[in-house]
Amino acid sequence: MAVDQAKLMEFVGKAFGDMGAALTAGLVVIGDKLGLYKALAAHGPMTSVELAERTGTAERYVREWLSAQAAAGYIEYDAAAGRFRMSAEQAEALTNEASPACVLGGFQGMTAALRAAPKITEGFRTGRGVGWHEHDPDLFEGTRRFFQPGYTANLVPNWLPALDGVIAKLEAGARVADVGCGLGASTMLMAQAFPHSQFVGFDYHAPSIERARELAGGAGLGERVRFEQAAAKEFPGTGYDLVTFFDCLHDMGDPVGAAAHVRQALAANGTWMIVEPFAHDRLEENLNPIGRVFYGASTFVCTPASLSQEVGLALGAQAGESRLCEVLRQGGFTRVRLATQTPFNLILEARP
Ligand SMILES: C[S@@+](CC[C@H](N)C(=O)[O-])C[C@H]1O[C@@H](n2cnc3c(N)ncnc32)[C@H](O)[C@@H]1O
Repeated sequence: MAVDQAKLMEFVGKAFGDMGAALTAGLVVIGDKLGLYKALAAHGPMTSVELAERTGTAERYVREWLSAQAAAGYIEYDAAAGRFRMSAEQAEALTNEASPACVLGGFQGMTAALRAAPKITEGFRTGRGVGWHEHDPDLFEGTRRFFQPGYTANLVPNWLPALDGVIAKLEAGARVADVGCGLGASTMLMAQAFPHSQFVGFDYHAPSIERARELAGGAGLGERVRFEQAAAKEFPGTGYDLVTFFDCLHDMGDPVGAAAHVRQALAANGTWMIVEPFAHDRLEENLNPIGRVFYGASTFVCTPASLSQEVGLALGAQAGESRLCEVLRQGGFTRVRLATQTPFNLILEARP
């Protein structure tokens, strides 16, 4: 096949842009950890000397970081004044943890996932999985920070109200299990909103459960929220009014087994809410920027995690509504539907 030089240059340009993106990801994590964005947003426009002084960092490093960030469009440079600053939008996405637009956790989690590249490469050769627990700890904190802004914006105002009759139960006093809860962001948001209900977060990963307990202690939620180490097919208790799975069903080796366990743990008229990454049913419909991030994360984290567990069904992070609903039905649920969706999430409701 003859190479079209113009198309070749276009492709190389795109790949070069991605090299810049890969480096920018690392630079964002550094800026976040050292407080460079927060200082620049609060006190800019600044020179590299001023920013280094304010953050207790070395000016020569800071100058190079500022230059790279300005070239990436993550901060602004005023050449006449020789000063750097952040626009309101850059500051919102790079310093405001409470904003749904915050991107810091995504960069923290994704750069952490990349550190597993040698193990994942070996997985390609052997077919063996790599467990969630085998990743760099920045993945756990980064995942919480990545998802929490979306949960804050959607979980209580939109997702729970999309479920049939669940809000009334939560207001009156319900028993809720949040399975695969990670650091417990979703568990705590629900506990804050529904003071008459009892919440327990379960995750097989002990360090995540320890960290969730620490965070809950600081949130002053008292007795109504607790965290216990347990796998999805083994979590204790029955008669739950609501069981929730946030972005974890596809990470499990045996999601059908997990569904069957949820089925017997629910009250007769209970509800299972499954939040999964947004995906269409067919690969060709997911070949877009969101699919790119989710398939990438799925290759590094979700698929290897599932392959590391029993059965190893490996749904992947882009399973889509049809495949997910099939898994829920195989687990014994008869009333399964898409309750609502956002550009980033599918919210499924499953009832016995
Ligand atoms: C992508 S994280 C999501 C964490 C949390 N739900 C959130 O939304 O921030 C996936 C979580 O699933 C947990 N997990 C994976 N397999 C599990 C299993 N078989 N049983 C319980 N938890 C599991 C992992 O430990 C991890 O905390």
